[in-house]
Amino acid sequence: MRKIIVAIDGYSSCGKSTIARQLARYAGYRYVDTGAMYRAVALFMLEDERCQGADGIERLVELLPDIHIDFAVQADGSQHTTLNGRDVEQQIRHLEVGNKASIVSSVKAVRQYLVKMQQEMGREKGIVMDGRDIGTVVFPKAELKLFLTADSQVRATRRYNELLAKGEKPVMEDVLNDLQTRDWRDTHREESPLVQAADAIVVDNSHLSEEEQLQKVIELFEQRCK
Ligand code: DC
Repeated sequence: MRKIIVAIDGYSSCGKSTIARQLARYAGYRYVDTGAMYRAVALFMLEDERCQGADGIERLVELLPDIHIDFAVQADGSQHTTLNGRDVEQQIRHLEVGNKASIVSSVKAVRQYLVKMQQEMGREKGIVMDGRDIGTVVFPKAELKLFLTADSQVRATRRYNELLAKGEKPVMEDVLNDLQTRDWRDTHREESPLVQAADAIVVDNSHLSEEEQLQKVIELFEQRCK
């Protein structure tokens, strides 16, 4: 079977990483979470004192060549994001980092830097990548493009439960507001806004179980590999 590129785009908390990871495991492909890369840049900006002034974004852009992001495979097969060799998987998942990621991801130079890295990762194909611009900008010729969506209330409830499970004390109203703000920023930014590629297949998982969704996606994947 030929190796292909699978591009998965969609809104925040739609379960993109879950299905991307499951499909990558099924196919024996590499999985790349591009949201984690934007989050790692955001963490760098939050931590580096040179980026704390009013000109923080300009400093960040100058410092981009010093930002090295990778994924370290763990003994259980899961992946941890690394920033300049440091495992930052836990830190990048905090709400504050997510909010900053939404800001840095609207900066053209940041996007260009990460898109180049992502294209390099997919050079040999055999990759499942998820994000917001994978099927439109990173791999416009991907053999399989999925656009995931779900009702915003359903997504907020999932996100709320995830935060609870992590021991945080989320407030439902804040989680929903945060999600809607991010959706707005993702779809309205000037640089590579979140849009559905014309040839993407929409998967609305509001009322699909994980198993049902996986079966549907595996079918599409098998068709494209032929
Ligand atoms: O999917 P996520 O919540 O981990 O993404 C973090 C932020 O990065 C979010 O605001 C969207 C943005 N992002 C992006 O602009 N392009 C991508 N390919 C992936 C994420």
